[in-house]
Amino acid sequence: MNIGLNDLREMYLKFFETKGHLRLPSSSLIPESDPSLLLINSGMAPLKSYFTGNITPPSKRITTCQKCIRTPDIERVGKTSRHGTFFEMLGNFSFGDYFKKEAILWAWEFVTEVVKLPKDRLWVTVYLEDDEAENIWVEQANVPRDRIVRLGKEDNFWEHGTGPCGPCSEIYYDRGEAAGCGAADCKVGCDCDRYVEFWNLVFTQFDRDEAGNYNRLSHPNIDTGMGLERLAAIVQGVDNLFEVDTISDILENVASLAGIVYKNDEKKDVSLRVITDHIRSTVFMISDGVVPSNEGRGYVLRRLIRRAARHGLLLGIVEPFLHDIAKIVIKHNISAYPELEGKVDYISKIIKLEENRFSQTIEQGIEFLREYTDGLATESIFPGELAFKLYDTYGFPLDLTQEILSEKSVTVDENAFNKLMQKQRQRARDARRNISSWSGNNDEAPTDSPDEASDAHVRAHSATHLLQAALRGELGEHVTQKGSFVGEDKLRFDFSHFEPLSPESLARVEQTVNKNILRAMPSKISQMSLKEAEKIGAMALFNEKYGEVVRVVELGDASVELCSGRHVENTGNIGIFHINSETGSAAGIRRIDASVGLEILRTIASLNDKFDEYSAKTRAEIKELKQEVKNLKSASHEGGSMAKTQEISGIIVSALTLPSSDIDVLKGAADNLKNQSQSDVIAIGGADDNGIKFVVSATQGAVDKGIHAGNIIREISAVVGGRGGGKPHFAQAGGKDAAKLEQAIEKVFNVVSSMIPQ
Ligand code: ALA
Repeated sequence: MNIGLNDLREMYLKFFETKGHLRLPSSSLIPESDPSLLLINSGMAPLKSYFTGNITPPSKRITTCQKCIRTPDIERVGKTSRHGTFFEMLGNFSFGDYFKKEAILWAWEFVTEVVKLPKDRLWVTVYLEDDEAENIWVEQANVPRDRIVRLGKEDNFWEHGTGPCGPCSEIYYDRGEAAGCGAADCKVGCDCDRYVEFWNLVFTQFDRDEAGNYNRLSHPNIDTGMGLERLAAIVQGVDNLFEVDTISDILENVASLAGIVYKNDEKKDVSLRVITDHIRSTVFMISDGVVPSNEGRGYVLRRLIRRAARHGLLLGIVEPFLHDIAKIVIKHNISAYPELEGKVDYISKIIKLEENRFSQTIEQGIEFLREYTDGLATESIFPGELAFKLYDTYGFPLDLTQEILSEKSVTVDENAFNKLMQKQRQRARDARRNISSWSGNNDEAPTDSPDEASDAHVRAHSATHLLQAALRGELGEHVTQKGSFVGEDKLRFDFSHFEPLSPESLARVEQTVNKNILRAMPSKISQMSLKEAEKIGAMALFNEKYGEVVRVVELGDASVELCSGRHVENTGNIGIFHINSETGSAAGIRRIDASVGLEILRTIASLNDKFDEYSAKTRAEIKELKQEVKNLKSASHEGGSMAKTQEISGIIVSALTLPSSDIDVLKGAADNLKNQSQSDVIAIGGADDNGIKFVVSATQGAVDKGIHAGNIIREISAVVGGRGGGKPHFAQAGGKDAAKLEQAIEKVFNVVSSMIPQ
């Protein structure tokens, strides 16, 4: 039977709807209030409080398809075809309603009658002591007793951290002898690929607490979990998840981008699988609000993207590509996960930013590793200090360094690495403490000195609220306050956001704040319960502890925040608001410095002074530049005499050095030379205090003969420690070692001869 992954999901949810279940959409991958979990890892995880009875579920029977991420096996992903970080879990749940009998009979009905798996391929396991479950399987589902295997706690008792848990019963599919290890005692529970466990029925009877006690739940529940991808692989008769219809489409797209074919070369297959799996996790994490960072979920995301990017390089894909592959993931999933709607650009942009960030350093990092390991005996230990340097300077997550080194059987001194990480964390904590000494905890302002200085504080404080509201309107709900400082008519506001604001965006934010000032809206301060405050949409600080009764500050209809500080009576009192600067403060955090009220007059006065100062400076600089242009013009003119020209198999090649690294000057010189000397290939290198630059251009005639400007520049810039590339007709690059400029540029003659077929 050929049923697509998307069809199977629907068949399952529909089936359980006919059994009286309420279908709920998948929850976010980010647990709502479960500090025991970094990411949702099973269908039951977001429903924990329904199991414990802390919250009454909307129905006693629920069915879902839950997106899940499990990362403990991340380094095995790709190396095997079984492991993945992202998967979808189908589940039916009973909260004090039906129990073992229905769970078993419905699972059997779905498997044998809806997706019609052959019964003679199916096996069942039950928990060692669970006679009741075994009897239901035998007497009511008619499964032969010799098809039922009893397993111990390790296999048939389900628990994940704290929370609801219990004994379970699993359904296995026998993929046939050929898929197995061939051992005489190979049977259900064997580690090989023959018997695949695909559905886990948990009879949730206990609640495990932090201390490890199993407390009996007031009513027993059912929690089942079936990996959608596994089921699809079985139903579609393919080996593993990477061959399932929609997933294989992602893999094939990566393969075609790399110009390779899957299952041709095991090493490349590993890379294809890593990318395919990681991009699925990446898309869903970003869609649920995670952005790459150095902590927690953000770091998981960063590791996934960077590992995938590095495997892209192994496949020879040098340009950022993951952001494009993400679109294929979205295409296949948008019907089942409507939350992806409207986020294509956002997701793609976040991925591209991270790809770009990493690509700036990845090659240097890899080169660093290569140089170090060259000549190193295998089985060596790689110093933790160097692994830390790779992390700190080149953005290499530890597991990426480990993976690269493991290819040479070198291991990292993890202890030393972890110590350095800890030290760095401590430094960061200390730095934050220093910041909070200026931020105060919650921008507390003096409340009882009714003089101008105090009013100035209060003005700035209210402006902070308007600024936060404007930023959220402009950039999105992910913007939250990360720190603030309120001075006399001055404020500094730190907030979560992943990239610099464009000048247009900043101007709009500034204007929104000013509009709300000019609307002269009264402020309102009231006390209410936290619940009521949430109901009217008050912004609360995440992780901040609030009491039963909170103080809510409303500034007209522009902002509602929980706050204990003092505020203007009317937004008009703020006077005027001006953003002085927007900068990065820490990873994922931006900082705005702004002024309000009278401070703006001081700002204007100082701007006037600066204007005078700059215009004098600019006049002087223009004069200097004019002189420089003159010099350069004559230098490029002189260049005619400095240019070296050779004819190589009918191709005229000219090489020239100039005392400027201005790319426009070099391009202009190349054009001049082309017109004047009828050269077919021109290579120009220029150096000055600002660095080294190269341009290489080639005529159509030369390109037709096999010349490639991009390849030429790669070789000649390498002489001065540069990197570069480009198109066949034109390329530019930089370099480092000015002393070898002449040598680099003369290399063009050799490179050109090597390009012409002899
Ligand atoms: N919660 C069970 C699992 O994830 C069903 O396997």
